[in-house]
Amino acid sequence: MARFPSAWLDELRARADIVQIVSGYVTLKRNGHRYWGLCPFHGEKTASFSVDSERQLYYCFGCKASGSVIQFVMDMERLEFPEAVKHLADQLHMPLPQMEEDPDYQRRRTQRDRLLSANKEAARFFHQTLFTPAGKPMLDYLKGRGLTDSVIRKFGLGAAPNSWDALTKHLTEQGYTQEELRLVGLTVIREAEPATENSPAKPRRAYDMFRNRAIFPIIDQYGNVLAFGGRALGNVQPKYLNTSDTPVFNKRLGVYAANLLRKERHLDHVVLVEGYMDVVALTQFGVPGVCATLGTALTPEQAKLLKRFAPKVYISYDGDSAGQNAILRGLDILKAEGIPARVLDFPDGLDPDEFIRRDGLEGFKKLPALTPETYRMRRLKTQYDLSSPEGRTEYARACAKVLQDLEPVELETHLQELMLQTGFTRDVLLAQIGVSLPKTAAPPPAAAPVQRVSYRRRSAEENEDLRAQELLISLLGTGQLPVDIAEQEDFDDPLLKSIYIDLSSGRSPASLVEEQPDEPSRARVSKLLLTPMSESRDQLIRMAQDCLNAMRIRRTQARIQAIMHTINTLSGDEKKAAMTEVQSLNANLNRLKSART
Ligand code: UTP
Ligand code: MN
Repeated sequence: MARFPSAWLDELRARADIVQIVSGYVTLKRNGHRYWGLCPFHGEKTASFSVDSERQLYYCFGCKASGSVIQFVMDMERLEFPEAVKHLADQLHMPLPQMEEDPDYQRRRTQRDRLLSANKEAARFFHQTLFTPAGKPMLDYLKGRGLTDSVIRKFGLGAAPNSWDALTKHLTEQGYTQEELRLVGLTVIREAEPATENSPAKPRRAYDMFRNRAIFPIIDQYGNVLAFGGRALGNVQPKYLNTSDTPVFNKRLGVYAANLLRKERHLDHVVLVEGYMDVVALTQFGVPGVCATLGTALTPEQAKLLKRFAPKVYISYDGDSAGQNAILRGLDILKAEGIPARVLDFPDGLDPDEFIRRDGLEGFKKLPALTPETYRMRRLKTQYDLSSPEGRTEYARACAKVLQDLEPVELETHLQELMLQTGFTRDVLLAQIGVSLPKTAAPPPAAAPVQRVSYRRRSAEENEDLRAQELLISLLGTGQLPVDIAEQEDFDDPLLKSIYIDLSSGRSPASLVEEQPDEPSRARVSKLLLTPMSESRDQLIRMAQDCLNAMRIRRTQARIQAIMHTINTLSGDEKKAAMTEVQSLNANLNRLKSART
């Protein structure tokens, strides 16, 4: 997807008043140019969520959520950056830049809109049909599987009637072309065939893709109906018929029930299952955050999507062997994406739907959430004969691979288990894993005494220095200071230096925050740029000069000290040059000290 032109984004930010947008979700009270309200991102009773109308940023002093108006929309609506931008542009009636320039983009967009609305109409048709006589067999089937009316409505389940073309007729009456319906996978076209010796000519025929099935609409987090899964009412093959990939649907990118996941806040983890019925049943029984991949193994894209809904993923696949192998692949994918995972291992080969019907929500809650290593070791245990020494050795070797990347504290419990199972000593197992823990503490790295001294002396001062740099950024963020008051060299913290460079080239605080790659740095930058400051420009300048002076004094002193430490190792011209530098640094130091107010 093309990047938005930055001038256009600036205009969007300027037009999208953050106070107004946030007010759509949070009741704000004004205090100066700050507004305060209850944070929408964490539960709280006193207002610690602040919006700064001048800097167009928000920051929560409680949970440290922070960002620009675009970030706010991303987090509230669970949108990716381009989607949030489109959402805002839409509200502000700003045409998207691509639409202005690119006729092909516009054509694709129009087509996409039409296909999505055909799908939405189809979902409505299926859902309504479920409650008519033509839908009775499907309603009976769903009820027969224990679903309540309320969960049927929640998931918008439906009925594809036992008819050749009820839906195709309905949608063509609504103005959709057969070609559109074919593209989106709702209609199958059989081309005309001439007569042969054995059969008469067949006319061209358009008929419904889904017939005589219970329907599960697949809806994304923005509410678009992307595709459908159709469950046969009995033992007909295929058991599930799914929309293949279409211009609006790629089954590798989405998950089933993303629309419901989006609405759940403060989820600790997503429960990832295999089937439509598992999602619906677990949800009906009260399990939060359930979704399913769509008949494929978990993809990296889906893993990234899950990360937006919750920090952890619980893989809850079927207890059969296909499910168990899919778990191993899923764990690999989640690990590669850096997402902490757990495994729910269902007993007796049951799938989640069958299990929760048998043991209820209480039973489900009692299922232990296995760490990936525990799960992998359990699997390995079934593959080796632990009663023989060779089996135990092979098993230990395989487990050592599993335990390779663990942190020491996590390693410990597994290690003890492995010692018991295999009879190997701790040292042997550790060596096999590849961790060589020294018996005594490691000697300090060999370093010149000079550096050690300056290192120890600096750490307290370094802190102070960092605080001065941060204060200076806060002061610069007010936009009230001449930017040339400081120089790049005044900053040695990389993040602060880059903010300084951006601010001095005229970038807005909001765009800087937006650009930060992760939450912690976003929070850090927002906090800096939102620290309340005096309203008087003179006072701001004085404060900035104090900061700069203190920073420069400290740095000059450190430099002098460093030279003095090495000066006795020098001789001749080198020594002379060092003396001269110290003299000029000292002069500088005096100037800085006398400038101090
Ligand atoms: P399962 O065979 O485990 O189905 O397939 P299930 O969810 O338990 O279904 P019920 O309980 O018998 O109704 C898991 C998932 O694999 C895909 C579907 O997404 C299904 O939910 N699948 C399965 C298909 O796409 N086609 C099939 O024929 C079977
Ligand atoms: Mn099932």
